[in-house]
Amino acid sequence: MAFTMMALCWKLLICFLFYQVVSGRVRREGHYVAAVYEHESILSPNPAAPVERRAALELMGRNLDIYEQQVLAAARQGAQIIVFPEDGIHGFNFTRSSIYPYLDFVPHSHSGKWNPCRESHLYNDTEVVQRLSCMALKNKIFLVANLGSKQPCERSEPRCPSDGRFQFNTNVAFGADGALLATYRKHNLYFEYAFDTPAEPDYAFFDTPFAGKFGMFTCFDILFFEPAVSLITQYNLKQIVYPTAWMNQLPLLSAVEFQQAFSTAFNVNILAANIHHPTLGMTGSGIYTPVKSFIYHNMESYGGKLIVAEIPVIAADYKTNLESNERFRVNLHDSCRTSTSTSLDDEVCFKEQETPGRVSEKEKGKEQSPPFFYAEMMYDNFTFVPLWGEKGELQVCANSLCCYLNYQRAVLTDELYALGVFDGLHTVHGTYYVQACALVKCGGLSFSTCGQEVTDATALIDFQLWANMSTPYIFPLLLTSGITLDFADHMGWKNNHYFLSKNRTSAGLLTAALYGRWYEKD
Ligand SMILES: *[C@@H]1O[C@H](CO)[C@@H](O)[C@H](O)[C@H]1NC(C)=O
Ligand SMILES: *[C@@H]1O[C@H](CO)[C@@H](O)[C@H](O)[C@H]1NC(C)=O
Ligand SMILES: *[C@@H]1O[C@H](CO)[C@@H](O)[C@H](O)[C@H]1NC(C)=O
Ligand SMILES: *[C@@H]1O[C@H](CO)[C@@H](O)[C@H](O)[C@H]1NC(C)=O
Ligand SMILES: *[C@@H]1O[C@H](CO)[C@@H](O)[C@H](O)[C@H]1NC(C)=O
Repeated sequence: MAFTMMALCWKLLICFLFYQVVSGRVRREGHYVAAVYEHESILSPNPAAPVERRAALELMGRNLDIYEQQVLAAARQGAQIIVFPEDGIHGFNFTRSSIYPYLDFVPHSHSGKWNPCRESHLYNDTEVVQRLSCMALKNKIFLVANLGSKQPCERSEPRCPSDGRFQFNTNVAFGADGALLATYRKHNLYFEYAFDTPAEPDYAFFDTPFAGKFGMFTCFDILFFEPAVSLITQYNLKQIVYPTAWMNQLPLLSAVEFQQAFSTAFNVNILAANIHHPTLGMTGSGIYTPVKSFIYHNMESYGGKLIVAEIPVIAADYKTNLESNERFRVNLHDSCRTSTSTSLDDEVCFKEQETPGRVSEKEKGKEQSPPFFYAEMMYDNFTFVPLWGEKGELQVCANSLCCYLNYQRAVLTDELYALGVFDGLHTVHGTYYVQACALVKCGGLSFSTCGQEVTDATALIDFQLWANMSTPYIFPLLLTSGITLDFADHMGWKNNHYFLSKNRTSAGLLTAALYGRWYEKD
């Protein structure tokens, strides 16, 4: 009897433990659990000085120790995939030669056949890759990280650098068994003199049993057509892993703001991991879906942050764009019917038969009402008009882009807002063509403060914002006080205008913008 009781207890205990483990993994149908880690990397005090491989491995080992703890913590919370930031293991500010001891050899042509943890003897200089692979294997989790890699080349090859090797800023993805599934070499380097650009863009993705294919790219890549947009559209990807080392720039390019906008614009989930160095303006990670997100942005405190969230898989054949356009149309009809304002109704809501791009007589009569003014926003010369009074309709144009706003302020606060437009080539810290239509809170009460970096706001503004954008690649930005995010009520195309509307933001409004990238004009 005692024996059977014991046996039963054992069984119960085992069942109980098993249930615990399983319950940690219980997921809703069509969902998966993702993790991203915002890491404060332990940096070399003097990255330009040459060191031995042993010293480089020692420093990187301290970062990898932290990764190991976070992989364990994420796996315990049921995460099936974890993403680490760009530069998280080796750091930054190296020269081409001083980074060399930090580089692993990473075979670029592979097919998931190499398991660095199990087959460590295959290649030399793969210590970092091996540790990452073992973390994935031990915790049965897909793992994505960024490191520096080297690839020897013959000096006779046309592109081979004079030191006989390529050096790449590289992402690696491992399966839950530790196998190296995919590598991605950063294409759009951001003044990283230690690294080479690969001859052709990598279109990197890997398959998972829980959410299908994940595409990979890195940091600055998010602003360019190659390879990010190409990759997503050619392979119809719905999940993206995105290691980054992003310096925030308000009002239009803070990390969480743009990551969300990218997710919404392309209807993809993004697992974005940034490094955490507030003194350099680097923070902002998240797990994003097109309609909801789990973010971290913290300029105040030090240390890392693990985010774990369960999100829905976006099926590859889901006709979201068509469907949401249809929904948009229906909703817009409803709101148009009840709206008392006229210009939007006339120009955007119903006149579907109108010739594309043609302007109605009424619009032509409307002059760009002064006072408009110029102010620099993120190094670009924006044309602005101020928002005055409780409500109004505004229009401002630059080059071929006209931007319109219909607004109503719930409470009049002592804050200056302005509607700004820019249509031109951005040339500072990178060259890329931008079409932007932006409602922003100004830094102070004078016009010259519009475009400055502001992080807090109290004004609640109901608005409809639209513009005759020339590019289909439009990133809808909606940023609220304290660097929090909100989501538009409606957005989409109508009569050659892109449209964004929102009533009742959850916090004071910092930025509402249509940020367009006109890739062909770069
Ligand atoms: C790296 O360089 C940037 C600007 O070039 C500088 O502000 C920063 O302090 C440097 N960081 C380190 C860790 O050396
Ligand atoms: C690794 O390096 C050692 C010493 O340089 C060399 O003898 C060995 O052949 C190398 N192994 C591989 C797989 O390249
Ligand atoms: C949004 O606010 C505007 C102005 O305050 C109002 O006319 C419109 O009906 C509101 N729309 C919705 C969908 O609530
Ligand atoms: C901005 O553009 C306007 C119009 O082209 C020009 O008059 C003004 O000088 C420019 N401002 C700056 C700071 O470049
Ligand atoms: C946008 O609208 C303005 C004003 O109606 C017009 O001058 C401009 O040509 C339009 N741009 C495009 C690309 O249609």
